[in-house]
Amino acid sequence: MCGIIGYVGSGDAVPLVLEGLKRLEYRGYDSAGFALVEDGQLVVEKSAGRLSEFMASLGDSLPSGRAAIAHTRWATHGAPTDNNAHPHTDCTGRIAVIHNGIIENVAVLRATLAKHGHSFRSDTDTEVLAHLIEHLYEDSLQGAVAAALKQVEGAYGLAVICTYEPHTIVAAKQGSPLLLGVGDGENFVASDAAAVLQHTRSVVYLDDGEMAVLTKDGYQIPDLDTTRVAKAVSPVDWDLATIERGGYPHFMLKEIMEQPVSICNTLRGHLLPEDGNARLSGINLSDAELLEFDRVVLIACGTSWHAALIGEYMLEELARVPVEVEYASEFRYRNPIIDDRTLVVGISQSGETADTLAAVREAKKKGAWTLGIVNVVGSSIAREVDGGTYIHAGPEIGVASTKAFTCQVTALALLTLRLGRQRALSVLQGREIVEALNALPEQVKAVLAKANEIERIAEQYVRAPNALYLGRGYNFPVALEGALKLKEISYIHAEGYPAAEMKHGPIALIDGMMPVVFVAPQDGVYPKIVSNLEEVKARGGRVFAVVTDGDDQIARLADHVFTIPKTLDSLTPLLSVLPLQLFAYYIAVRRGCNVDQPRNLAKAVTVE
Ligand code: M6R
Repeated sequence: MCGIIGYVGSGDAVPLVLEGLKRLEYRGYDSAGFALVEDGQLVVEKSAGRLSEFMASLGDSLPSGRAAIAHTRWATHGAPTDNNAHPHTDCTGRIAVIHNGIIENVAVLRATLAKHGHSFRSDTDTEVLAHLIEHLYEDSLQGAVAAALKQVEGAYGLAVICTYEPHTIVAAKQGSPLLLGVGDGENFVASDAAAVLQHTRSVVYLDDGEMAVLTKDGYQIPDLDTTRVAKAVSPVDWDLATIERGGYPHFMLKEIMEQPVSICNTLRGHLLPEDGNARLSGINLSDAELLEFDRVVLIACGTSWHAALIGEYMLEELARVPVEVEYASEFRYRNPIIDDRTLVVGISQSGETADTLAAVREAKKKGAWTLGIVNVVGSSIAREVDGGTYIHAGPEIGVASTKAFTCQVTALALLTLRLGRQRALSVLQGREIVEALNALPEQVKAVLAKANEIERIAEQYVRAPNALYLGRGYNFPVALEGALKLKEISYIHAEGYPAAEMKHGPIALIDGMMPVVFVAPQDGVYPKIVSNLEEVKARGGRVFAVVTDGDDQIARLADHVFTIPKTLDSLTPLLSVLPLQLFAYYIAVRRGCNVDQPRNLAKAVTVE
């Protein structure tokens, strides 16, 4: 996620904000930059790539000023290039803006501003803000920013400086974190306390709808109507390392807990409730073109491959389009049958997985239209495909993929709506799915609020040498994913199976030493999975089951149960996977494993 730091005081602003950016590096970013007013002129320096390279490129003679804003960008609109890096400026080069978040009505704003003669140099939504502020500036930066934000829909944490008021920073927050660091003769604005902690431990957390006007001698917090808001100053008593992980002991836990927000971000701007459909303009295909495909091939690796399997179940059941799911590594070498009536979708968190990238290229060579479901904007796969959608999960730092998985499944639900509404899905079914998707973030939140229950259950399984994960239907891929999570980070050998397949071999392993994790919500295959569970219990197996709220049938059979809320069958994986992520996490922590960087694994597998 992007990072913001701004400084106004009597110190030399640029070294201070660059140091703040270093503190924000852990969040992940792809470009960096800063702006300040030096001798009445706006100076902007920015570039794509690592902060260390950017700083080296600046040399020793840094521009000098008493107020500066700086940013690390993690691309959302537009590729990670020098041009798209923040700060962004207006036409006159007098106003500079840094911004975290997504402006949803950017297209309308850009078109209106263009009519007024503004021209744009980047692909970003942020640049539009700079022009909008310029357009509305009369005699005060605060007034112009407030007027601009009244026209903006979406999420932002932002900071603005301009040559007209060189000793002032104006900041504002809506849906993206922002705080003030209160110093003695100096003040800071930052997206994260880590950036200011070296200088002050007194912070003011802004709330949505609030602005801040900072000078060296103080700050004011008005709302967009300039009514002043009284805010408490809070002490920060965490150390830096804890803050970087948002107070969580590990990035993996932080990322698990971020899922209510990350799923919202995947859905943002895509749902069409009235039509029971999804807007996916990034796929670059008209309705007529989309109807030409007679099958879909989903290619991916690891966790993304598990998401693809869920996509297959969704697309076939609801959109009635034939789907194949391929391991990218197999696909690329086995001369698959692909033609221009095949829609090939590469799914990848990093967008850099070598096998998936090569498979996408192979599919293109054979004439397929290729789409990407990717997290990292501007990554190789995102650039290679003919279209697609970003999942906007934010940077995933823990090696074990968690929030990217649920966002990928969410994106596949959007694709299902888009393809389904043209084929087999009625408007009523579509609306039901849209409604259920909208309800998901709150349901995810409710499940994650019970993490301590999972922690207690996990305690019982810490010493298991093996584990079997079983699920059916939509929850078979969840069983695979649960097993992968456990083996990756705890080094316990774990296997996932379709529950009924157990009788064809793995049942031989069942004894009191083999924990069996059942993913058994009340869906269309529930009675079947209850029978499978009885078979395990009859052989003395120890069972932990993930079931739907109110299920007392399995509660009577299993040794431990964890309940999740009811949703549509096709969306249950988005809830049932959560306890399995937490289960793996707590077991690994109790076993003393390096949860965020498990042995032998890399976050992006860029080699074959
Ligand atoms: O970046 P990608 O989604 O393409 O990565 C694919 C796999 O390498 C990845 O999902 C891997 O399995 C993770 N370690 C799973 O937690």
